[in-house]
Amino acid sequence: MDKIQEIRKSALKDFEAAKNLSDLENVRIKYLGRKAGELTKLLRNLKNLPLEERRGIGPLAQKFREDLENLIAQKDKQLTADYRSPVAGRFDVTKPGKKIKLGHLHPLTLLEEEIKEIFSSMNFSIVEGPEIENERYNFDALNIPADHPARDMWDTFWLRQNQAKTKNLKPKTQGKLLLRTHTSPMQIRYMEAHNPPFQIVVPGVVYRYEATDATHDFQFRQLEGLMIGKDISLANFKYVIESFLKKLFGKDVEFELRPSYYPFVEPGVDVYMKWRGKWLEVAGAGMVHRKVFEAVRYNPDEWQGFAFGFGITRLAMIKYKIPDVRLFYSGDLRFINQF
Ligand code: FA5
Repeated sequence: MDKIQEIRKSALKDFEAAKNLSDLENVRIKYLGRKAGELTKLLRNLKNLPLEERRGIGPLAQKFREDLENLIAQKDKQLTADYRSPVAGRFDVTKPGKKIKLGHLHPLTLLEEEIKEIFSSMNFSIVEGPEIENERYNFDALNIPADHPARDMWDTFWLRQNQAKTKNLKPKTQGKLLLRTHTSPMQIRYMEAHNPPFQIVVPGVVYRYEATDATHDFQFRQLEGLMIGKDISLANFKYVIESFLKKLFGKDVEFELRPSYYPFVEPGVDVYMKWRGKWLEVAGAGMVHRKVFEAVRYNPDEWQGFAFGFGITRLAMIKYKIPDVRLFYSGDLRFINQF
């Protein structure tokens, strides 16, 4: 009889002390565990006791086992409920987590990556240049002197000259600083630093001080191309851009070359593609002008080649069927998340 009282006392004490589910489980194992639970052992030993004693202890021990089982079940329920409720300081590990929003690359970046891969596969090197340029690279060396009316083809963002401290831009000797109006200055920079033959493409952002509309933004992306060798012709140009456009838009791509004028090429052409049922200019191009070769000290009688400047933003409009170029930089997630 003493034994059962002793177990009961200690079990209730342990039970009260249990503060969490794992304490409670330990109490259950200690007293009700199938193999070594104290109450279980006591009940198992009943058969070895004299009948008298068995009659006294048996029902008491049985009853206490049931009571303890009920107590533990109740407390278990309560502790589980507490654990799940968002009481201060507690945290529900069973609740599904919040989804982390992952961003993705901008559609223009995606397209630029695709374009770079295509030109790499055709053995073109990819190079980049500064967005702040000086007059010599953006205009003069490209055969557009200060008084030439062709300068008006590109409305320019001029920079405050006294803030131009960057050494390699040399504003004093190379003319005023500006935000480049096209990627063509990289033709000059590259030719000054390298000997032909070579073929490069130059992706990058360009800026124009002009009113915007559905096909014109004041900031957009271009892809310059330049291939120089001893016998590069306009036929090579046509083959290269046809291969490029077929890889980008598929075999049935439709494009047109039309005569055009740029001071740094002779002859000059424009590339047109269909967009929303009409023809849209996607690139200017032509054979590099002698004057440009002279500016970089190449012998124009020895070297020749083609240059082109695609509007990547316009190619994106055609590829993704975008009705207005300004959507690309609008920052509107409803637009961006469609890619
Ligand atoms: C040029 O910028 C010349 N540098 C291209 C060139 C390179 C000619 C090499 C010859 C040799 P243009 O201003 O036309 O040319 O612009 C080239 C392309 O950029 C256009 O065909 C068009 O696709 C795109 N583009 C021009 N202006 C805008 C604009 N405001 N917004 C978006 N795309 C434009």
